[in-house]
Amino acid sequence: MESRHRIYFDNSRAMRTIGDQSIDLVVTSPPYPMIEMWDQTFARQSKPVFTAMEKADGNLGFEAMHRVLDAVWAEVVRVLRPGGFVCINVGDATRKVGDRFMLYPNHARILSALYDKGLSPLPVIIWRKQTNAPNKFMGSGMLPAGAYVTLEHEYVLILRKGDKREFDTGEEKAARRRSAIFWEERNTWFSDVWMDLKGARQQMLDKKVRARSGAFPFELPYRLINMYSVVGDTVLDPFLGAGTSLFAAMAAGRNSIGFELEAGFIQTIHDHVQQAIGTGNQVISDRLEKHAAFVKERLAEGKTVQYVSRLYGFPVVTRQETDICLPRPVKMEANGSDSFVVTYEDEPSAADCYGTDQGAAPVRDTGGEAGPCPGSPKQQDLF
Ligand SMILES: C[S@@+](CC[C@H](N)C(=O)[O-])C[C@H]1O[C@@H](n2cnc3c(N)ncnc32)[C@H](O)[C@@H]1O
Repeated sequence: MESRHRIYFDNSRAMRTIGDQSIDLVVTSPPYPMIEMWDQTFARQSKPVFTAMEKADGNLGFEAMHRVLDAVWAEVVRVLRPGGFVCINVGDATRKVGDRFMLYPNHARILSALYDKGLSPLPVIIWRKQTNAPNKFMGSGMLPAGAYVTLEHEYVLILRKGDKREFDTGEEKAARRRSAIFWEERNTWFSDVWMDLKGARQQMLDKKVRARSGAFPFELPYRLINMYSVVGDTVLDPFLGAGTSLFAAMAAGRNSIGFELEAGFIQTIHDHVQQAIGTGNQVISDRLEKHAAFVKERLAEGKTVQYVSRLYGFPVVTRQETDICLPRPVKMEANGSDSFVVTYEDEPSAADCYGTDQGAAPVRDTGGEAGPCPGSPKQQDLF
């Protein structure tokens, strides 16, 4: 099995190389309107932004910045397949422009723009980012009534195009079953507050690079890709930055396409892309180890774990998990500067398979044959 990854150093307001309805999932984080580090990025793309900020008109500036993003959202809706999801990480901004301090509600403006373009908003995730910064309490402190509550969260907006995605053919159904996540992962990943995204072991980019590029942690796109797409799908990030979504897609066995305005990121992406193999393997080992620990604990509590994974032989809680397969990346090849191919192991590693030291024997076999791990992904003309 292979996955293919392509970067376009181009403006995502016109993604001419991407066909209508050819993308299965969009995972992205735009530049945040009214956050100072992105003022120039917006002003370079829009005269009205430049003028509004020159005149210290925050309301006009906010709207003009969102109009830049609106053009990208229109493209996102065009290229997304029916039943496909859009996941957008964004934070609101607090800022004093002229004499007025206020919150600029980016998440609400983006949700409403995508709703107007026909997508269905679904419950959002609050990503809680606790800070110990001394200035986190803004305003007058202990004296009423001039202080503001802390702003320690961002959002992951989740929207769908049209109705639920159908998996009609045998091949589509098999790819979906192989892409299952563990029951215990479902309980955390599908909850509406995410707290624990630091996972230093799985940070491909160092702190400085992440701060400079506004990168999200690897775990964020990795979870979303596993939650809203299947192996062999194509994931688009129209604001690729330092490439975190692309690395996450590589680790998850999905194809990916990224658009990024700043060609300067090419070096950062190339410097880090070789690590994608190591990170992908680390993520898989961590997930399998956590699953083994979960099973052990559950059995120790006297609870049942009724089913057995066909490929790995370890117990799983539900029938839906019995074909789960975490494809291990083994090789990464660059084709020129903007295209990559990742090759995955055909069978699960012996080390990943169930051993007697995990404290429990499988309870119920589901029958059927354990096939080779990956299904063949769709090949896209785009790569
Ligand atoms: C918040 S950063 C994305 C960071 C990314 N998620 C990561 O982990 O590295 C937003 C990126 O969007 C890029 N950008 C802004 N406007 C764009 C446009 N119209 N087309 C393509 N990229 C754009 C910026 O250069 C910036 O790198």
